[in-house]
Parts: sequence; C-alpha cells; structure tokens
Amino acid sequence: MKQSIGIDGPAGAGKSTVAKRIAKILNIPYLDTGAMYRGVAVAAKRHGVGFTDEEAVAALVEAIDLQVQYTETGEQHILVDGEDVTGELRTEEISQGASLVSRVPAVRDRMTELQRKVAHAQRVVMDGRDICTNVLPDTPYKFFVTASAEERANRRYKQLLEGGQQADYDTILADIIRRDKQDSERAYKPLYCGEDTKRIDTTHMTIEEAVNAILSEV
Ligand code: DC
Repeated sequence: MKQSIGIDGPAGAGKSTVAKRIAKILNIPYLDTGAMYRGVAVAAKRHGVGFTDEEAVAALVEAIDLQVQYTETGEQHILVDGEDVTGELRTEEISQGASLVSRVPAVRDRMTELQRKVAHAQRVVMDGRDICTNVLPDTPYKFFVTASAEERANRRYKQLLEGGQQADYDTILADIIRRDKQDSERAYKPLYCGEDTKRIDTTHMTIEEAVNAILSEV
C-alpha cells in the first residue's frame, strides 16, 4: 500500500477544497469518495429505488457498474453503467440520497473495495467519512477536517449567493445538521475521528492554513 493521505470530516467542512490543493501540490490524484456514494444515489433514483429501501439498494449496488474516471485536466467523473452522471451529483436531493444509501453495508463494502483498489495502484489523496477509520486505516497520514455546523452553513450560504443562486441559511443549516446526524450515527462504519487521526478545526482557519497544517505532517 502506498502512503496515501486520508481526509475525513462532516459535510461542508472544506475537505474537498483542501484535498484538491494538497493533491495538486504533491502532484498525485485526488479521489472524492463522496461522489461515488452520490453516484449510487443517482442510480437508485434512475431505477426508482427508494433511498431508504435497504434491500433494494443493496441489490442495486451489486448490479450496477460504477466507474471513476479522470479527464485530461484531472477532473473526476462518475460513470454509472457507462453513462456520465457527474452533472447530477450536486443537488440537495442527491446529497440526502447519498447520505441515506451510504448506511447500507453492501454499498459501503462495495465502495471500500473500489477505493482500496485505487490506493493500491498509486499514492492518492482521498476524502470522505470513513477513509481513516475503514478504507486506509494503515496510512500514517490521517486527518479529520471539521468546522462548526453554523460556520459550514454560512460558507455554503455565501457560496450559493456568489454563484447567483437563491439560498436560505436556516434550511442549509438544518440540512447540514441532519446529514451530520445520519453520517455519524449510522450503525455500520459511521463518521468519527479516530485516536490516531489529526483533528483540524477550520472554523477560524483559512483554506491555506488548513492545507499547511496537513502538508507540515506529510
Ligand atoms: O462528501 P459528500 O458530501 O459528497 O458525501 C455525500 C454522502 O456520502 C455523505 O453524506 C455520506 C456518504 N459518504 C460516506 O458515507 N463515506 C464516504 N467515504 C464518503 C461519503
């Protein structure tokens, strides 16, 4: 196993921004594992499978072909049965759907298997919810990037407004709190910061400071 870098943390903590910068600086690939769970949620929606129908979701994940591909510029794309669904991953419905289907053990085991394959082949930066505790427990580079729920909601709120979209702070905060609860209280492989994982609270930090905190360890 190459010495990959694992970054876990709750929704909206800035994990992916930090992970992407680190991957660029170290010139290694970045794997966004949340996008894979989002791909499963898109497949469920397409097949009319309810996100909370555990048996049907388990059968679905065995039946579909989920692939991660990179463009020449290094952007990650998710293909489900050969179809590129990347453009459909970032809606609120799919955020919630990914959080719900990720509770199903068969889904987690399948995604874990695919993620380990990637890390066996090359050194990568991977972010998600169970990378340090489950996918790459043996890597020495494990980080838990977090921030208060209010700060995460505030960042998302500003991001939406800057993108010209409408946003309601209270709805965003409620969605974040619900997803935190689902991700950290699920029975199988929940989100938590392990004892051997360095916790980085970015509530009062810039992206640069968070990136440097990780780079100084790597
Ligand atoms: O990182 P994200 O917000 O795109 O992830 C979407 C959902 O997928 C998240 O709410 C929980 C699930 N997930 C997971 O269970 N394990 C991971 N390693 C990554 C994501």
